[in-house]
Amino acid sequence: MKGIVFNILERVVTDTHGADTWDTLLDRSGASGVYSALGSYPDAELIGLVVAASELTGASPGDVLRWFGTEAIAIFHARYPELFAGHSHSTALLARLNDVIHPEVRKLYPGAEVPEFDFELGGRESIVIIYRSSKRLCALAEGLIQGTARMYGESVTIAHPRCLLRSDESCRLECAFLPLAATP
Ligand code: HEM
Repeated sequence: MKGIVFNILERVVTDTHGADTWDTLLDRSGASGVYSALGSYPDAELIGLVVAASELTGASPGDVLRWFGTEAIAIFHARYPELFAGHSHSTALLARLNDVIHPEVRKLYPGAEVPEFDFELGGRESIVIIYRSSKRLCALAEGLIQGTARMYGESVTIAHPRCLLRSDESCRLECAFLPLAATP
């Protein structure tokens, strides 16, 4: 996992819970805490930090990853507004993950290990995202989708009827979006 991911995790933990909490997570997980954005670090170190946060807060590791993913999008948006500017709503951006967004990420962070999704497009308000990755970070994907919706002023519900974590061959993320003003 690239150092930028750890940098963003540090930022969202510190902004929300303070620098002491980040230090506690480093202590409890044994993570080094020194990450250069372009460097690569073991996935296990990220998972260790997530598990430490889960033990500290009582939230499940999946909820920690979802929270992190949701918050991370606002930080990516502030740093790389051009990645979002070409799209006017969530499904437009999500449909371009394979051919625009993640390739741009790999230009910015050479060696980034990004997933390749399959999609079932359903118009402006829905998209099915099929996720396969040995990293099995579907909770992170859910959070990134939530953060994308928030960025475009939309709400999203995500059904997850098939899951790598339940030994299915892929995760199926059925996403339905609504503009917030239209949320009942
Ligand atoms: C503009 C928005 C986005 C940016 C800048 C971005 C950037 C990144 C970066 C830097 C990584 C880490 C790669 C590495 O460290 O090796 C990553 C991985 C990942 N991204 Fe994105 N991403 C974006 C949007 C999304 C969205 C909306 C999803 C949701 C479907 C998503 C799903 C993932 C997943 C699941 C991974 C983990 C790698 C894996 O599972 O194999 N990303 N992304």
